[in-house]
Amino acid sequence: MEEKKLQKLLEDMSLQEKIEQLVQLNGLFFGSSEQLTGPAAAFRLSEGQAYRTGSVLGEHGAARLKKLQDRMMAEQPHHIPALFMADVIHGYRTAFPVPIAIGSSFNPSLARRIAEAAAREAAAAGLHVTFSPMADLVHDSRWGRCMESPGEDPWLNARIVENMVRGFQGEDVSEKGRVASCVKHFAAYGAAQAGRDYNVTELSEHTLFEDYLPAYRAAVEAGACLVMTAFNTIDRRPCTTSRRLLRDLLRGDMGFEGVVITDYSAIKETISHGTSEDERDAARQAMLAGCDIDMMTSCYLHELEPLIRDGRVPESLLDEAVLRVLKLKNVLGLFEHPYKDASEEDEQQLLFCPEHQALSREAAEETIVLLKNEGVLPLSPDRKIVVIGSLAEDRAIVGSWAVFADRSQTVTLREALETLYPEADVTFFASDAITEDMLSAAAEADTVLLALGENETWTGESRSIADISLPASQKKLFDAVRAAARKTVTLLFGGRPLAVPEIAQQTDALIEVWLPGSCGCCALADILFGKVNPSGRLSMSMPWHTGQLPISYAAFQTGRPKPETDRFVPFVSNYMDVPNRPLYPFGFGLSYSEVTYGPVCLNTDTLTSGGSLQAEAVIENKGPLPVKEAVQLYIRDLHGSVVRPVRELKGLEKICLAPGERRTVRFTVTEEMLRFYDADMHFVSEPGAFRLWIGHDSLTENGADFRLE
Ligand code: GLC
Repeated sequence: MEEKKLQKLLEDMSLQEKIEQLVQLNGLFFGSSEQLTGPAAAFRLSEGQAYRTGSVLGEHGAARLKKLQDRMMAEQPHHIPALFMADVIHGYRTAFPVPIAIGSSFNPSLARRIAEAAAREAAAAGLHVTFSPMADLVHDSRWGRCMESPGEDPWLNARIVENMVRGFQGEDVSEKGRVASCVKHFAAYGAAQAGRDYNVTELSEHTLFEDYLPAYRAAVEAGACLVMTAFNTIDRRPCTTSRRLLRDLLRGDMGFEGVVITDYSAIKETISHGTSEDERDAARQAMLAGCDIDMMTSCYLHELEPLIRDGRVPESLLDEAVLRVLKLKNVLGLFEHPYKDASEEDEQQLLFCPEHQALSREAAEETIVLLKNEGVLPLSPDRKIVVIGSLAEDRAIVGSWAVFADRSQTVTLREALETLYPEADVTFFASDAITEDMLSAAAEADTVLLALGENETWTGESRSIADISLPASQKKLFDAVRAAARKTVTLLFGGRPLAVPEIAQQTDALIEVWLPGSCGCCALADILFGKVNPSGRLSMSMPWHTGQLPISYAAFQTGRPKPETDRFVPFVSNYMDVPNRPLYPFGFGLSYSEVTYGPVCLNTDTLTSGGSLQAEAVIENKGPLPVKEAVQLYIRDLHGSVVRPVRELKGLEKICLAPGERRTVRFTVTEEMLRFYDADMHFVSEPGAFRLWIGHDSLTENGADFRLE
């Protein structure tokens, strides 16, 4: 529909109609029994009013949504089509590895391919919008939602989310197999104090702008059609009613022109925050702040009309919000094609199709992280292997947000090993309960695989924990098996980095599996037997201890930096009981190959504004297997008008090297890459001394110095 016709449509709509366009209800209001996300909510609606609302949360399935669209368009006085939105975070029916694992691929183009596949399935199921990517930076794995985040680094998160937005939306979101992307949660939800979900955040302006905003900014620049407000407060104001955040920053500074939708019941929750007196006050503040769609409360539905009639909310603000929603429906082509891509036939073809299963497996090959290997991997099929741990047969390893996945389709580690390596002599004890049989089998085996960690029920929304060490039962299991076995390989499942220092020290090999998705255990089996060379890198530091949280490699030196030692040193910034450094740092991961980095060469050691500098290193695969290597560029500003991190990721190239192959990887460094928010919050670079490194992970010392003039 031409945009000027939208304006005419808006002018023809009644006040109540316009308000109803800004309301989103879940399936319970449409006769569904599914309460997929969020707490139950009930509020009074007039007869048929639900069918006149502008969008629906969580309903899915081509047949159901076509029928629902027919009913809603019939009830809506101007027959305006509804938007169908849902949480397709990392896959619809085919579950891909969880986002923290996708971040660990260090492969943004893989993230895009995953989003494209997820969009194809979601669109066939009749969905128009996905509440993804989640762009919240995370430094604290007590927070259960770090599972949904690309990780701890602003630069890598930005690359991952911008590629996911483009994967979901393509160049034209009305095209078949595309859905609109809603980036979330704006902003800094991952900074929930003490890692406790829904808690307040206490951030400096610098930290908000330097660390938490870049990924949202990248998603907006990639064209995300929607932004979702976060539950938390920033500067002691709920994000959902913060004009500074939504109108000044998101729309003003970032230039976002799309739809702002609140998170589930977030408008009403400002009453609990204590910044709104009642639903009318909450509705007023949210509308003034710039929230367009009210998800799952009756604040807009019941309170906007009296607010407008009393002149406390200008109708012009309502019109702006409604026009943005109509424009979104228009850009999706819903006025001409209200079903968009909903097709039972396409659902049959696409959902969990072999191509998407293969991609799910390929993705896990690149997201699984080998953290330790002391001569035990890869396994040989002719050796005696025992697999211990309930997670070896657990299908709940696709992620708590894989709400549309069919868990009966998850390939378990046991199924993967038995199917892919039938010739191997593998015995399973898929339990965490220690038995005599288990221990005697462990004693006779050449190698024991221990499947430990968390299944999907331990991470996700509201699943914060105060202690990120393993449950006592698993520690006890590990100790008993370790005492009996010759060699142990510990497989760590979960949606967050866990603190496993004792296990890391005692096991012969350690693998971070994450929650690997529908077919991820096939990739794990191939990695265990050496068919696939692991290439994942930690997207989030793995701490020694909960007490180190929040933690990040991009830390500040402080006035009393600790010397390079794990011992306690008095009167410097350190702990008496644990090291400062993480157990395994951001960017770290091993492979089965020896990869070497030659010295960093610069074409000049002086960078001028407007100029650029080339930094390169020769990377060699000394064999024996082909390898994928995530070559990382880090930069440090040695002095600034404010403190600057000891290093920051500024470049990445994931390359494939055959055994014996050497490759020169070259990065171009520009003055723009050196900009930061100075003491006056101006985004500038400052002349002076810099250091850069090209290396394997955030600990690399393979560096060179240069100056910015
Ligand atoms: C939830 C989540 C959000 C999700 C929304 C709709 O509470 O916070 O990430 O998209 O509600 O399900």
